[in-house]
Amino acid sequence: MQEFTYKNEELHCEGVSLKSIAAAVGTPTFVYSKNAMVARIRAYEAALAEAPHIVAYAIKANTNQWVIRAMAEEGAGGDVHSGGELYRALNAGVPANKIVYSGVGKTTQEMQEALSAGIMLFSVESIAELKTLSGVAREMGCIAPIALRVNPHVDAKTHPYISTGLKTAKFGIPLSYAADAFEEARRLPALNPTGVHIHIGSQITDLAPVQEAIHHGADLVRDLRQRNFDIQYFDAGGGLGITYDTEEPPEPDAHVHAALQAIHAMNLTLVLEPGRALVGNAGVLLTRVLYHKQTEEKRFVVIDAGMNDLLRPSLYDAYHEIRAVDDPGAHERVVADLVGPVCEEGDFFAKNRALPHVPGGGLMAVMSAGAYGFTMASNYNSRRRPAEVFVDGPRFALIRRRESYDDLVHHEVSGQLDWLDGNSER
Ligand SMILES: Cc1ncc(COP(=O)(O)O)c(C=O)c1O
Repeated sequence: MQEFTYKNEELHCEGVSLKSIAAAVGTPTFVYSKNAMVARIRAYEAALAEAPHIVAYAIKANTNQWVIRAMAEEGAGGDVHSGGELYRALNAGVPANKIVYSGVGKTTQEMQEALSAGIMLFSVESIAELKTLSGVAREMGCIAPIALRVNPHVDAKTHPYISTGLKTAKFGIPLSYAADAFEEARRLPALNPTGVHIHIGSQITDLAPVQEAIHHGADLVRDLRQRNFDIQYFDAGGGLGITYDTEEPPEPDAHVHAALQAIHAMNLTLVLEPGRALVGNAGVLLTRVLYHKQTEEKRFVVIDAGMNDLLRPSLYDAYHEIRAVDDPGAHERVVADLVGPVCEEGDFFAKNRALPHVPGGGLMAVMSAGAYGFTMASNYNSRRRPAEVFVDGPRFALIRRRESYDDLVHHEVSGQLDWLDGNSER
């Protein structure tokens, strides 16, 4: 996280003091270092330079168009999970022929949109989806290029909510059934089965399970080729973890080499789908302390950001480092819960943590908030979603304005309600 450092006893993002951003934009605000993100995508691209490849940025990690655009400018494609993410990817300039679309619940409308756009691959997650996609493509008079997402039953050793490669998970087609599923795809009229996809989870800090899963996938490709399938793509997913606390995850080049080694000399285009590893450590949530509160039991520090802004601590019990924006040396530590204003006991950022003592009105930074931060934000408690800011060297720009109160009611029907007769067919 060298893009977030103290200069003149103030926390900076690249060359910009977070205090100046708070003064200009207010809080809470997500602040992203453009150069930190670019450095990470370049690390992937450099490690892959000699191999046919696509780095498909997993857009779900951070969907701001300026972030997606920064990735696309470095040659990245996109991994999308909904029609909305497909729209965002295309809108931000990701070429359609570098987009892979995964997810267990694609609707026919989403399939039509992706087929019209001409995406590189659908990652199909069930037999029922195969049949539906074939029907949609046939009606449109085209052929859908597909990978099958296989579930290798490998434990990614991460949080259960983001562990997707076990046979109890909703994701993928069991490895034991994968060849049959490919045969089914071949029988269907409008599919081109050309890829194998495996993604076993997120925030993975040990590559051994990833390697194991990829080896299973490579064996499957060999089997499929013997059955005369023209397999051209191997999508090894994303999932590389980052340092939130004391984790020491492998670097992007190790992730790349683990995948390349398993498919060596197989003449496959390698697709990787990193999300968190590209943007997670490149962002912070900048927030202001509202109150200190001491009860008989414990001390609370109440900030102006809540679980609606950054859900990870509440959802995954996730650790985020908390820093004072001002003067690192001068802050004594206080053991407290760092909580937000939302009407939930689950609204916390840290529990019983020795936090820097920042008085009311002072600024704090919740670190490593660039991935699955704003994208998971909601309007719960009718809180307006925060602003987002991009920093590039000595300058910064607002890339999403803070929502207004009007935004909260904007999509609700106003004036008279147009009541419809529920008994008549329309
Ligand atoms: C299919 C797929 N690919 C890639 C990713 C990105 O994961 P990460 O952000 O951990 O790299 C996800 C995350 O959920 C996913 O489901």
